[in-house]
Amino acid sequence: MLKQRLATLCKAITAQVLGLALTAMLAGLLPALFHGIWSWVLVQGLAAALSACILRQPAWWMLIHLLFWPAVIAMLILHLPTWLYLAMLLLLTLIFWGTVNGEVPLFLSSTAAANALAAIVERENTRRFAELGAGVGSMVVPLAQRRPMMAIDAFEHAPLPWLITRWRCRKRPNVNTRITSFWSGELSRYDTVFAFLSPAVMPKLGEKISREMRPGSLFISSSFPVPDWRPESVIRIDDRRKTTFFCYRIK
Ligand SMILES: C[S@@+](CC[C@H](N)C(=O)[O-])C[C@H]1O[C@@H](n2cnc3c(N)ncnc32)[C@H](O)[C@@H]1O
Repeated sequence: MLKQRLATLCKAITAQVLGLALTAMLAGLLPALFHGIWSWVLVQGLAAALSACILRQPAWWMLIHLLFWPAVIAMLILHLPTWLYLAMLLLLTLIFWGTVNGEVPLFLSSTAAANALAAIVERENTRRFAELGAGVGSMVVPLAQRRPMMAIDAFEHAPLPWLITRWRCRKRPNVNTRITSFWSGELSRYDTVFAFLSPAVMPKLGEKISREMRPGSLFISSSFPVPDWRPESVIRIDDRRKTTFFCYRIK
């Protein structure tokens, strides 16, 4: 885990340094392109994002590289108090817990995806359901409303999203919001398990699923297939992100 964290940070720093070096080179070759600080910042952001892409950092890092220096300079120009940096860092850590590992950021499922999941769960007559990485409850809240008799375990390790889900489910006794990593959860008790994570974790998650889930139970992965597994069905949802559910029947 520490090794993975260091590798991700090294890639991020390398992308920033390459961005600076490329910008300096370009400024030497084409000085007419650079008028004032903002042209430097824009070119450096683009060069760092391009370097991150070449270093195969996940897509959300491009946005971080693009916005890093503009945010620093805007804060300096606006003379914002120093405690604000710390507060922002704390807030981002509480939301994006673990993203620095290069694993899974917080993206929210659409209402159409929640409806599609509810339809599957109804068809399956699921009694025990788990969501691995529940975010702010975009899936479990509507599910709990539609299926009050279904026992739902919502695993979420990021403190702020967990708190929001817990608050949203405060009147839903069938939801158990668990502030823990789903890697430590035992999946044999669930009829249906849902996850919307990232390609990085799917091989390891596939191993956990096949080790722990019961034959006949259903695993649904939103957007990211388990490598080399053949889904029982693939459901394409007509939302903005064109979400796809990969549904795997456990053998
Ligand atoms: C892409 S978001 C999906 C959120 C929600 N499931 C939805 O569909 O709207 C992934 C979530 O998984 C959480 N997560 C990632 N790894 C986790 C882990 N090992 N244990 C618990 N939660 C995790 C992240 O904090 C994030 O909230």
